[in-house]
Amino acid sequence: MKGLILSGGKGTRLRPITYTSAKQLVPVANKPVLFRVIEAIRDAGISDIGIVIGDTGDEIRAAVGNGRRWDVRITYIPQDEPRGLAHAVKISQAFLGDDRFVMFLGDNCIQGGISSLIQQFGHSDYNAQIVLKQVADPRSFGVAELDDDGRIERLVEKPREPRSDLALVGIYMFDHHIFEAVNNIQPSLRGELEITDAIQWLVAAKYRVFPYIHDGWWIDTGKKDDMLEANRLILEELTPLVQGYVDRDSQLIGKVIVEPGAEIINSTIRGPAIIGEKTRILNAYVGPFTSIYHDCHIEDSEIEHSIVLEYSSIRGLPGRLEDSLVGRNVEIGRSPLKPKAYRLLLGDNSTVGVL
Ligand code: TTP
Repeated sequence: MKGLILSGGKGTRLRPITYTSAKQLVPVANKPVLFRVIEAIRDAGISDIGIVIGDTGDEIRAAVGNGRRWDVRITYIPQDEPRGLAHAVKISQAFLGDDRFVMFLGDNCIQGGISSLIQQFGHSDYNAQIVLKQVADPRSFGVAELDDDGRIERLVEKPREPRSDLALVGIYMFDHHIFEAVNNIQPSLRGELEITDAIQWLVAAKYRVFPYIHDGWWIDTGKKDDMLEANRLILEELTPLVQGYVDRDSQLIGKVIVEPGAEIINSTIRGPAIIGEKTRILNAYVGPFTSIYHDCHIEDSEIEHSIVLEYSSIRGLPGRLEDSLVGRNVEIGRSPLKPKAYRLLLGDNSTVGVL
């Protein structure tokens, strides 16, 4: 089997972070989502992985390299425009050949990995197997309706009156018949080749399309709040480990990871939380579900349920920072100038909530 990771796209829902950076490289619990995807595929026994890349391709190539770090072989597949998930499959045909493969969206996180589903598909005679998850409100998802034999019968995008609560989670397994499908469908109203249309084509052509129902958590990290939720869930599963320096006036409570070269001085860290390499926390409080990436500085401030990317500093905040995603090289601090005022330099599509 091979793996195909989709890591192109526009990332409009995560602007302004995605103006300068690939959303798949935003770290959750201090590891880029894409690295977690590569690890999940590798842990399922697959070592030949294609990554579809778009505008942020150079950054992804630089971060991932040839895959040797994970003991896998990476092939990059450039996509000229985000023309849809089925288009990404279409342009990957030369890489995939006749192999069965798993396709994984590069911004998705799934609990417990994918070994069991890869095994099931690998031993089956299914032409496709689609990972589904029961959701409370199916109206905002693509959902699958099953027939009496348990096969997938119909896929519906964001149904107003859902007849099923099984949502597509962004992990798909196919054999080579998917190429017939992607070559026979037309772009949708939004101009994309839709994977749901390709799967529906397989069903109509009487190929064997079955579900795999996943019962752990699954998160599409395409938006800030989902990114924070993935961060929360992954932090809860980590094992505490202190490799940095913690002074005697500091307290670590609950599950806390302090990475090498980090310094915690006169501060309280209440886990689950992770403090990245060479980050300095001084006279500060870091609360639950917070990930501070490497080379940051947090001083005289309180922060909780947030993600801070590398080389950022937060100093002297009068109120607690919560539910926030702070980009790279960001400086948040008090303005000493009079008159008392907020002084901001924000990129397009930034969001700020003041007290
Ligand atoms: P989406 O999140 O559906 O699309 P997007 O990344 O363009 O984001 P937004 O809706 O906020 O503008 O894409 C899911 C994953 O698939 C993501 O990792 C990007 C990737 N992708 C491609 O590689 N090629 C494509 O043509 C599309 C549509 C997505």
